[in-house]
Amino acid sequence: MIEVRNLYKSLAGQPVLNGIDIDIKEGEILTILGGSGVGKSVFLKNIIGLLKPDRGSIRIDGVEAVGLKAKELAAIQAKFGMVFQGGALFDSLTVAENVAFGMKRLSSHSPEVINKKVTDYLSMVRLEGVEDKLPESLSIGMKRRVSLARSIATEPKYIFYDEPTTGLDPITTDVICKLFLDLQKKLDITSVMVTHDIPTAYKISDRIALIHEGRIAEVDTVKEFKNSANEYVRNFIDINTRVLKT
Ligand SMILES: Nc1ncnc2c1ncn2[C@@H]1O[C@H](COP(=O)(O)OP(=O)(O)OP(=O)(O)O)[C@@H](O)[C@H]1O
Ligand SMILES: [Mg+2]
Repeated sequence: MIEVRNLYKSLAGQPVLNGIDIDIKEGEILTILGGSGVGKSVFLKNIIGLLKPDRGSIRIDGVEAVGLKAKELAAIQAKFGMVFQGGALFDSLTVAENVAFGMKRLSSHSPEVINKKVTDYLSMVRLEGVEDKLPESLSIGMKRRVSLARSIATEPKYIFYDEPTTGLDPITTDVICKLFLDLQKKLDITSVMVTHDIPTAYKISDRIALIHEGRIAEVDTVKEFKNSANEYVRNFIDINTRVLKT
C-alpha cells in the first residue's frame, strides 16, 4: 500500500503539488484525472522517486520513501514499473532488447531465461514475432504494448501508466483496456493510471481521483465519482464528456 500525505512540489518556482493526500490500496486500479498541466505526471514521478518532493510523506509498504538515500531508494524503485507518457521506447534497441532492459538490470537471469521471458511477456500483451523489429516499424498501439510488456517484465508490485490510451483509436483503446484488466488478474498488480479518457477510466478503474489546484479534489469508486455532489467534479466530467461527443 502507498500512503501519500501532504505532498508538496514546486517546479521552476511554480507550485504544482499543494498538499496531496491519497492512499493507493493493494490490488486496485486507481485512475488519476485532471486538466492538462495540473501535475498528474509530476505526481507519479514523485512517487516513483524520479522527482524529489519538497515536503510531505510517501510511505510505500510501510517504508518512508521521502528523504531516503539513493541506494535505499533504488530498492523501493524496484517495486515499480512505469509506462511513460508517449511510451518512450529506446529507438535504437529491438523490441526484445527493450522488453529485456529492466529485467537485465534488476535480475540475474541467464540470457536463455531472459529470451524466454521476453517472448512470454510479449505474448501476454498479444504480440508475436516482433522480437527483432525496431520500434520505428511498429504502430503506436503496438509500441504501447511493447512498453507495457517492458514494465511488467520486471514483475513490479506497482505499475504506473501515464496516458496509455491517448492517441489510440477506439478499438486499440479497447484492446489495451482488456489487457489491463487481464494483467491485473493474472499478475496481482496494483495499478495507477493517468488519463484524459473518461470512458476508459469508468471501464477499468476501481477508484478515480481528480487533481485540482495541486490537491485531490475527490477520490471515490467509479459509481460514487459519477454521482459526485462536488461541483468541480461534476463540471469536469461534463466538459470532458461533452468534448468527446463533438
Ligand atoms: N521538469 C520540469 N521542470 C519544470 N517544470 C515542470 C517540469 N515538469 C513539469 N513541469 C510543470 O509542472 C506542471 C505540471 O506538469 P505535468 O507534466 O505533471 O502535467 P500533467 O497534469 O501531466 O499534464 P498533461 O495532461 O498535459 O500531461 C506544468 O506546469 C509543467 O510545465
Ligand atoms: Mg502528463
